Amino acid sequence: MIEKVIEGKAYVDGAFIECCIGVEEERIVAVKKVLKGEETIRFKKGLILPAAIDVHVHFREPGFPQKEDFSTGTKAAAFGGVSCVLDMPNTKPPTTTSASCRDKISIAERKAYIDFGIYAGVTKENLEQLCDISKVASAFKVYLGGSTNTEAFNMDLLNVLASKTLEKVFAFHAEDEKCLSMNRIKENNLRDHAISRPGECEKKAVKEILRVFSTSTNHRVHICHVSSAATMSDLTNKPEWVTVGVTPHHLLLTSKDNLTFKETYYKVNPPLRSPVDRDSLWDAIIKGTIDVLESDHAPHTVEEKEQEFEKAPSGIPGTETMLPLMLYQFIKRDIPLSRLISLACEKPAETFGINKGKIEQGRDADFIVVDLKSIISIKSEELHSRCGWTPFEGFPAVFPKDVFVRGERIIESRELVGERGFGRFVESEGLSKESP
Ligand code: NCD
Ligand code: ZN
Repeated sequence: MIEKVIEGKAYVDGAFIECCIGVEEERIVAVKKVLKGEETIRFKKGLILPAAIDVHVHFREPGFPQKEDFSTGTKAAAFGGVSCVLDMPNTKPPTTTSASCRDKISIAERKAYIDFGIYAGVTKENLEQLCDISKVASAFKVYLGGSTNTEAFNMDLLNVLASKTLEKVFAFHAEDEKCLSMNRIKENNLRDHAISRPGECEKKAVKEILRVFSTSTNHRVHICHVSSAATMSDLTNKPEWVTVGVTPHHLLLTSKDNLTFKETYYKVNPPLRSPVDRDSLWDAIIKGTIDVLESDHAPHTVEEKEQEFEKAPSGIPGTETMLPLMLYQFIKRDIPLSRLISLACEKPAETFGINKGKIEQGRDADFIVVDLKSIISIKSEELHSRCGWTPFEGFPAVFPKDVFVRGERIIESRELVGERGFGRFVESEGLSKESP
């Protein structure tokens, strides 16, 4: 008899079917009409979806635990239906060596409620060590423009990166530093921030990445958080080895909105732009040019965000609200849920080589249960990030009721039942340019 059976209406092979999902030793072993289990959990209401993978979070450990740590960050992610995160390198110290990667992994193993991987940052100093680092890290992050607690990588060295043979993804923060410095002005508000970091600089960086990496035989490239119509127009016929990510804040907020809080709370890189830019991102979601939904969860304290505009750090929290906001939006906009599942689960898994993201035999048994009629309005005091605020206060959203990671229920009826330290480092495998 199978260890555990989860029964209900589930998203399997592109359709919703009434079925039983058999789980043994953390993985899905069968999906059938009828299965007998030692334990059966039946969901009469709601839909069973694969859990989301958030490939872009800044959980701030080591170095800035007052903003977030792996315990609060992964708890927040879990409540938002995320079973696995990939953590960014701009911590203190940054994860730019094998040793600092190992240290971060061991911190996370003690604290995480859900699974995780980590990025190693690429700098001009560690170029010769990337092969060793690739044995420890899940993926590489390259900042082409400077941002919070990180400097820009010299664009002239991109060809050195492209010549490497490393079976890990290069994820790019695509803003061209030279272009940024030419446009920089004194910033008093969001409008100035968008002028300082125009879409043209994003477009330039993306063009250069595509040009240089088209000669590489090996690498798959991920462009993080695209934000402008200028960039999107260049990506419509992008090559197969390029994936493109988008954040909920670039899809839902613009610098021209009537915003609820002080503008510093919406200061982020790349910046919030115009309604035309925002609409181009929704178009790209519908057309399929955008592949991945990622939160760029970048929490900062209220104290930091209360400073004057120029001093306040860039970054917006969002891992907990990412999938719930989008579940509501996709229903409201009448976009098929299959598209959202591709963006939040399937493509992240495929892009970063993670054995999750689909309800099928052999994958980790990570799912969520959602009732699409249960729409609530987001309240910061009900969220779990240590930063304690959200730019999406009052936004309608659909939160998962139950969340399973590797067959274990960690959220039950919106209550945390999982354990700190349960989360594990995930392998990322099979990532050459030719692989799917
Ligand atoms: C990020 C942060 O705060 O770590 N901020 C942001 O605005 N996205 C840094 C980054 O990745 O750009
Ligand atoms: Zn980021």
